[in-house]
Parts: sequence; C-alpha cells; structure tokens
Amino acid sequence: MMGLERVLVTGGAGFIGSCMVRRLVAAGRRVVTVDLLTYAGRPASLGSALDAPNHALERADIRDGAAMRRILAEGRPEAVIHLAAESHVDRSIDAPMDFVTTNVEGTAALLAATTGYWRDLPAPEREAFRFLHVSTDEVYGSLGDGDAGAFTEASPCRPNSPYAASKAASDHFARAWHRTFGLPVLTSHGSNSYGPRQMPEKLVPVAILAALEGRPIPVYGDGRHVRDWLFVEDHVHALESIVERGEPGGVYNVGAGAGTTNLDLVRAICARMDELVPDSPWCPHADLVTLVPDRPGHDRRYALDSGRVRRELGWRPAVDLDEGLGRTVRWYLENRRWWQEIRAGGFEDRRRQGLGAG
Ligand SMILES: NC(=O)c1ccc[n+]([C@@H]2O[C@H](COP(=O)([O-])OP(=O)(O)OC[C@H]3O[C@@H](n4cnc5c(N)ncnc54)[C@H](O)[C@@H]3O)[C@@H](O)[C@H]2O)c1
Repeated sequence: MMGLERVLVTGGAGFIGSCMVRRLVAAGRRVVTVDLLTYAGRPASLGSALDAPNHALERADIRDGAAMRRILAEGRPEAVIHLAAESHVDRSIDAPMDFVTTNVEGTAALLAATTGYWRDLPAPEREAFRFLHVSTDEVYGSLGDGDAGAFTEASPCRPNSPYAASKAASDHFARAWHRTFGLPVLTSHGSNSYGPRQMPEKLVPVAILAALEGRPIPVYGDGRHVRDWLFVEDHVHALESIVERGEPGGVYNVGAGAGTTNLDLVRAICARMDELVPDSPWCPHADLVTLVPDRPGHDRRYALDSGRVRRELGWRPAVDLDEGLGRTVRWYLENRRWWQEIRAGGFEDRRRQGLGAG
C-alpha cells in the first residue's frame, strides 16, 4: 500500500484497526499503533504484527494531547489513520458520555496535536501528509422502508443514536481542521462491517456464538432493519485507497452496495453453522432466532451510494456476503481462544439493549 513508509494508526488494536495494522506491517511499513486498550482493544488481534520489528504499540489515550504530540514527534508518520473510538451503539445508549469524550474531544485533541506536528514538517513532507478520519454511514440517519435512493456524501447529517451523533460531531471537527488550518484531512463513511476479530457484542459474532452454544439468537424488532454489510478487508482496502489517492478535504462513502435485513443476515449465519457444525444438537440453527423488543432510536434502513470511491479511486468490494460470512463463521469456530479470553476477562457478550446492528 501507498508510498507511505511510516503510518500512525489510532484504534489499531480494535476490529477494523487491527486488520489495517496487520496489512501495513505485512507490507513492510513502519507502523505505530496508538490504542488505549479499552475493553475493545485486543493486542492479540494484531497477531504476529504485534511483535514485528516494524511495529510499535503505544498504549495511550487520544484525548491526551501531550501524549499524542510525543508519539507523533517520535514516530514521524507520513499519515495518520484515525480509527480509535467508542463504537457500539448499545453502549452509547447506556453510557453516552464516553462517546462524547473519546469520539468528539479525542478526535479534536488528535487533530490539534497532528496540526502542530504537520506544520513543523519540511515543505515536501507537509505537502504529502494525510490524516484519514474514519467515520460511519450512521451519521446520515435512517431511510424508511419505502424510501428510494441512498445516502450520498452530500446528504445531510441526521444522526439518531448518541454513537452516531458523536461520530457526526467528530466529522465536523475533522472538516473544520481542514478548512481552518489546512490539515490534509480525508473522511470516510463506512457501512456496517463484519469479519474476524469483531468484539462479541456486535450482531454477527453475537449470532455465531449464540448458535454455537444453543442460546436464543436475539434479533431486534421485526428483524427487517436493512444494513449494507461490508467485509472488514474490503473496508480496509477502501481506507488504503482513500489515504493514498483521495483528495484532501474529500469525503468518501464506502459500502458493499447490497442491503440485507438483519433477519436474512442471521439466517445466513445459521445456514453456515448448519454446514460447518452438522452434528450440532442445535441444527437447524435458524430455530434459535428470536425476535426481541426493538432498541430505542433504531435506524430502519441504511443505503449508501459509494459511487465516488468506486469511480475516482477504483475501489470495489472483493468479498460478497456469502463468502465473507463463511470466512467469519469459520474464524470464530477455529479461534475460540480469542473470544474465550475476552469472556474470561469478565466481558458481557449479551447486547445491553438486545440485539441490533451497531
Ligand atoms: N465496525 C463498523 O461497522 C464500522 C463501520 C464504519 C465505521 N466504523 C468506525 O471505524 C472505527 C473502528 O471501528 P471498530 O469497529 O474497529 O471499533 P472497535 O470498538 O473494535 O475498536 C476501537 C478501538 O479504539 C480504541 N480506543 C477507544 N477509545 C480510545 C481512546 N480514548 N484512545 C485511544 N484508543 C481508544 C479501543 O481500545 C479499540 O481498540 C471507529 O471509528 C468506528 O466509528 C466502524
């Protein structure tokens, strides 16, 4: 990836961040991962990249401007890829202030620290520097069942959950730092991602682990909420294209372009479980699917127009839902230690407000 030799990745021990860091390290880049290692940060997710000579993990809080300034000065990155965030919608309903401090204040603190560092770079390096702010399609709010069309980068920001509001606020700061200070910021709005190493509180792993253990697989409301599921590696490829070739100040939607209801998604996972664990007493696993009361403010439908990243940067998703779910289910079956250690640490994998798609 890219001509960039040195990259700083925030949130690199999380689900999407660890996929990004593993790829960059494997490609020989020098990577500094900045991560507070909250419940969602798992050094084990970095695999062999963790101890690679071209990788360093800095346990630090993006809200800590002095720490960010030190890490930037020491690592001298040519790009910052900012993924650190509180990311789970249900938790944002239970404890919204963590989302305000990390996602909003943390992003602003990181932008400020990065601007100071960037300004002092020699002119050619300053010119080439990039800051990628990784955001979500949830900032656009919800489409109704009957609404045609999809959100474009010009759609208004209408966040409905505290998580989405915090991400939308951070997007505004990212834009403002570009417009006011000239920092070469790019912003991505990715759709719901899934894949290996996702915390077992999100819909796909919740469904896999409940099916494996014969527990009810809870699905919110009528199960007809539609999401545009994106395999994590495809999401990371898109982020690479954006940071490498995107236009500073640009905003890019990233979605697979195929809407799936939560019920269909969960049934597809169950079908995979039937194939991969045929002697399970819980076959057919779809019998475990249980509708539970809806989550408050639950967005009905997301659909994303990703035309810009496809047209201008040539990105395409490479993994369709069928293949991606197969790979994901197999990974959770073959890597039990990863999620068992999370549970042993006292983590509750039941969704707090039931089961949605945050
Ligand atoms: N997962 C998705 O479907 C999706 C879709 C679109 C966009 N995004 C965005 O991508 C980013 C990564 O999402 P994810 O699903 O990998 O999240 P995640 O929860 O798996 O990982 C977040 C990481 O950030 C770290 N972190 C949290 N607070 C921090 C702080 N104050 N300082 C430093 N590190 C901190 C955590 O320890 C964790 O490693 C987020 O910004 C999210 O909003 C996610």
